Amino acid sequence: MTARLVVLISGAGSNMVALRDACERGEIPGELVAVVADRPCDGIALAREAGIDTVVIEPGDFASRDEWSAGLKQVVGSFEPDLVVSAGFMRILAPVFVDAFAGRLLNLHPSLLPSFPGAHAVRDAIAFGARVTGSTVHFIDNEVDHGPIVAQTAVEIEPGDSEDELHERIKAAEHKLLPDACRLVIEGRARLEGSRVVFSGGR
Ligand code: GRF
Repeated sequence: MTARLVVLISGAGSNMVALRDACERGEIPGELVAVVADRPCDGIALAREAGIDTVVIEPGDFASRDEWSAGLKQVVGSFEPDLVVSAGFMRILAPVFVDAFAGRLLNLHPSLLPSFPGAHAVRDAIAFGARVTGSTVHFIDNEVDHGPIVAQTAVEIEPGDSEDELHERIKAAEHKLLPDACRLVIEGRARLEGSRVVFSGGR
């Protein structure tokens, strides 16, 4: 079975590219069928060049946030995804969306959750004086940057690290973490059981 993947992005899209490449190399039994963004961005341009279906659905084109969420749900649903991955999507997903894709909706967050949720996770880890941060792939529930964890990886914070320097190292780690996590979910080796993920056949 080849799983149908849809990725949600707002920016550079380097994780979307890593996921697409892993699919192309046969490392994931999946196909990236569409990339959906809330704004025009570099990642959308990359996806277009690669011949992947793209949709930009901007909140400003809708009368309300609820209507935008319903529109996003309809657009993503139209691609009949087996897995939806939020990878650098800078919007909070409304319950109407989260509930529609429950159990097949992952988020990539640049910290070791539950530490440093929110939009400035990398900056916050440096400001706190943490020695180690990292990245998390988790199933999305109706709390922000929260939900059953599929995979995490640690990245050391070096003295004097700028936010950009640290984020680049986190992204490099994410380019392996995210495809690995998606493979576990697609192959049924990481399954949701209540509020936890249970693993079979090793991680
Ligand atoms: C990643 O670090 C991800 O964890 C965070 O946003 C960044 C997206 O990077 N949510 P990119 O657009 O995939 O390059």
